[in-house]
Amino acid sequence: MPDIAFVNDAFMPLSEAHVSVEDRGFQFGDGVYELLRVYAGVPYRPAEHFARLDRSAAALGIPLPYTREQWAALVSEAVTRSGHPAAKVYIQVTRGVSPRDHVVSGPLKPTVVLTVRALVPPGAAFYAGGASVVTVPDIRWTRCDIKSVCLLANVLAKQQARDAGAFEALFVRDGCVLEGTTSNVMVVQGATLVTPPEGPWLLSGVTRQVVLALAQAAGIPVKEQRVTEADLFAADEVFLTGTTIEVLPVVRVNGRRIGTGTTGRVTGLLMSRFGDSHA
Ligand code: PDD
Repeated sequence: MPDIAFVNDAFMPLSEAHVSVEDRGFQFGDGVYELLRVYAGVPYRPAEHFARLDRSAAALGIPLPYTREQWAALVSEAVTRSGHPAAKVYIQVTRGVSPRDHVVSGPLKPTVVLTVRALVPPGAAFYAGGASVVTVPDIRWTRCDIKSVCLLANVLAKQQARDAGAFEALFVRDGCVLEGTTSNVMVVQGATLVTPPEGPWLLSGVTRQVVLALAQAAGIPVKEQRVTEADLFAADEVFLTGTTIEVLPVVRVNGRRIGTGTTGRVTGLLMSRFGDSHA
């Protein structure tokens, strides 16, 4: 089954998709993106993803060429064409193509790239064992709420994690743990679920929102407040949330064991409830 791309109004096999070297996404990282997950042929929480795409593009002054309804139709068509029942759909919108200059010369036509690839979910063993993470200083800019394609700090931090034998790196700024390079972070203190509040320092994750709602529905007290590095080490449970990983237990931080070193009760419950949310 083919991996599909849609580039500037046309569908094609992913291997044939190209954009100009003068694209501002390539030259400057001047663009935004979204990643949607498809379960059994059905995109998960598309409205939330398209709303965030709107917010990201508006924050950078990039006019989106499609409405939310048009994005939804485009994603559906791309998924159908690909034939992948389990897929990840990336949408990237850059400011467009123009001769290289920091200054934007006139109104440009945004470049739209949409790709559909098969998603092979991580195996049960990956979840059963739990993940190791490391903490890294947050060297990103101050608008981490924008889902920008400018991901250099995230790329470097993720590589640092992998080089250390860990799955994810958590960004720490002024002693506060903010989020992972491609995930949000939550800790369990006693019976309470705590996660850093939304704001300019982290991405408002779609999975984060779903998990907080599931926790509340399950009667678990939820607090959105700062999480220090000390809170992380002292937590009873830690887990990550994200479109590709769903709810992933964390059992080690910087080589130190968290809680019992196994998947905790609250994490296990939320993993199961999240699974039910797309079944
Ligand atoms: N990233 N924080 C960051 C920095 C992220 O890049 C992501 C997701 C999240 C979680 O958001 P959501 O639950 O909406 O996926 C948090 C995707 C997976 C990516 O870059 O591929």
